[in-house]
Amino acid sequence: MKVDLYERIWMWGVGVVLTLFFTTTAIAALGHHFQPPSHVETIDPQAAMKDPRFTPQGVRLDSEGRVHADIIALMFTWLPPEFSVPAETPVTFHLTSIDVTHGFEIVRTNGQSMVVPGYISQFTTQFNQPGEYLIACNEYCGIGHQGMMAKMQVVPKTEWKAPQVAVQPESEVSHDH
Ligand code: CUA
Repeated sequence: MKVDLYERIWMWGVGVVLTLFFTTTAIAALGHHFQPPSHVETIDPQAAMKDPRFTPQGVRLDSEGRVHADIIALMFTWLPPEFSVPAETPVTFHLTSIDVTHGFEIVRTNGQSMVVPGYISQFTTQFNQPGEYLIACNEYCGIGHQGMMAKMQVVPKTEWKAPQVAVQPESEVSHDH
């Protein structure tokens, strides 16, 4: 089959670009662990405020010492509106909304997820630079959308203190519905 020179150049060009696309995606997903947040776990949005998975809201350690942040979105704030996490430590965020869809964005980081009522969005990331981070809502959710913010303090690992309520007592899990 005779392929014209220009055609051959374009074919090679397309091949190279496609290879680049697939390679960068593979590196981001497998090498840098940039993965889409899960939407697997469900929750009753009307009961979310009392759900043991979100009571109290905020940062906690699990029994293995891993850091979790449980955050509720509502028009037009994040609960809790301020929290602190240790630097250079993986933090797993669990997010849910009690009303409409919001967008959780830790500005200038890769910590970002849609927050959809009825679901718990989860992702894990870490912050290497201590300091104050702004959390904004990046999904239009109503008249107060632009004021929907929270603050996250990233504290050097050695100075960070785990919150007092470290592990959720099992007894609260079963009966308050
Ligand atoms: Cu919440 Cu926009």
